Amino acid sequence: MEDMIAALTAHIQSIAGETPPELGLVLGSGLGHLVDLVDGVKIAYADLAGFPDAGVSGHVPYLAIGQLEGRRVLIFGGRSHYYETGQADAMHLPLAVFKALGGRRVLLTNAAGSLSPAVQPGDLMLIRDHINFSGQNPLIGIADDTRFVSMVDAYDPTLRQTLRDCAETLGIALPEGVYAWFSGPSFETPAEIRAMRVLGADAVGMSTVPEAILCRFLGLEVAAVSIITNMAAGLSDEAISHAHTKAMAPSGARKFEAILRHALGSVKEI
Ligand code: HPA
Repeated sequence: MEDMIAALTAHIQSIAGETPPELGLVLGSGLGHLVDLVDGVKIAYADLAGFPDAGVSGHVPYLAIGQLEGRRVLIFGGRSHYYETGQADAMHLPLAVFKALGGRRVLLTNAAGSLSPAVQPGDLMLIRDHINFSGQNPLIGIADDTRFVSMVDAYDPTLRQTLRDCAETLGIALPEGVYAWFSGPSFETPAEIRAMRVLGADAVGMSTVPEAILCRFLGLEVAAVSIITNMAAGLSDEAISHAHTKAMAPSGARKFEAILRHALGSVKEI
């Protein structure tokens, strides 16, 4: 993998320049269009050997590097999900390349179902902690002691505080909660959601947890925001579908974009 990281890093720098990105962003379902926020260059994942296909609709498989609110950012327009390939570590190489480019902080996003009546479709949730209910882990197979990564305060407390402060300034609700990772691609059953409520989950989804683990493994600071697109299975009469997820994502995405712009424009440590 080291050779691939070095080659990809050199290739990306030859196109985008060598200035390190100050923030990395991974875009979730229905948010892929945010790659176009960046004033800079776009590179197709297909041109980056070893990058995942990220072919789920609602994702945009491009890397965008450039300026947003006067800051240098790198945006992953799409991610690979465990359910696409059966590999939980599909984002290992892209995140390792981000680190090799000089990146230190990553903000993950996803679309998620809410378990809390107080958090409704169109709202945002900041992930405080997670429950890995998939039985998978992206570090399986790493053959040395670096695999034993602490997940205490995995979602960086300082970064979370910054995002909460920005949301408050803008008058956008950003409650914190626990995200439970299910492998998908089928949605959860109502019984699974009832069980998750007992176990302490506030939202449920099919991504993010492997990337958060990989970020901690790589020594990257990480935070994650869920865009709530539906109430989880059994909690509302609304049918759950991927089409519904994509249709609902834009209203939460607008709030997320506002927080992101405010954070980049006004906070040095992001
Ligand atoms: N469950 C899992 N993933 C999701 C959901 C959900 O209810 N909504 C959006 N992504």
